[in-house]
Amino acid sequence: MEHYSRHLRIEALLDKLHTAYPQGADGWQLAPVDQLHTGGIQASLRLRERLQRLGSRRILDIGSGSGGLMRLLTELPGLHVTGLDLCHDFNRLNRGLAGIHRQAPEPALTTADARALPFADQSFDALVMQHSLLNMPDSEAVLRESLRVLQSGGHLLLHELVQGPSPKPLLYPVPWADSDRDSHLENTAALHQLLSSIGFEVLASLDLSADALAWRRRQQAKENDDSRIAKAPASPRWILGAEFPRRADNLMHNLADGRIAVIELLARRPR
Ligand SMILES: C[S@@+](CC[C@H](N)C(=O)[O-])C[C@H]1O[C@@H](n2cnc3c(N)ncnc32)[C@H](O)[C@@H]1O
Repeated sequence: MEHYSRHLRIEALLDKLHTAYPQGADGWQLAPVDQLHTGGIQASLRLRERLQRLGSRRILDIGSGSGGLMRLLTELPGLHVTGLDLCHDFNRLNRGLAGIHRQAPEPALTTADARALPFADQSFDALVMQHSLLNMPDSEAVLRESLRVLQSGGHLLLHELVQGPSPKPLLYPVPWADSDRDSHLENTAALHQLLSSIGFEVLASLDLSADALAWRRRQQAKENDDSRIAKAPASPRWILGAEFPRRADNLMHNLADGRIAVIELLARRPR
């Protein structure tokens, strides 16, 4: 996606990380550039725990971005994790970051559109989307494909930004879009209906908006603390450009006003 590759200078970003972490970095140090969603690395650890409890072993991360969640998942023994992203530059960055991470294996990655998943029927026992549907204009096609590649009894786990209760229009730019051209937020009730009509069984849906807002406020305080920046230099600006603070500020205001919300949703392909 052009939105994510516009400001990205992969070699320069990796050079800066090599300089900051000559012995290699851990997941927390890489989080500002590989956890591109509300809730940061904690949100991914939460998804990992969910998938672990479900006993999922063959996992597809749709819209895997620069790979933070994938790297956390591959820390668990016995899991086979595949990442798929439309943005080839993100897949290149994902590989580069795995080389900087102290322990991460080479990631299994595919550049493709989630509307046409290049996998055989029933290839996975879990699919995860973390702030990915938010960029996808045709969620019905994506969810139909998701059902096709899931084995029966397999799970779909979503951590997504969706429309909030307020009818006010979004403040732009936001981290995932400059305008409504790239932003495609679901209505939660309509999403439930769509999932059911396609053949999924919705098992649980949680609103994480309050946690996401508190997290964003803490992040903003950290991002403005020069002594912290000196110790932990990686920044989402390295991906989203110098305008990141304005994007993050709008994200916070959109959340605070109820223009957007954050949900975690678990669905299953019935047996
Ligand atoms: C906000 S980023 C989230 C990345 C990652 N999941 C994370 O949380 O750090 C959204 C991701 O969805 C990807 N994406 C958007 N549309 C897509 C599509 N049709 N097929 C596959 N990936 C897509 C983007 O390239 C981007 O990597």
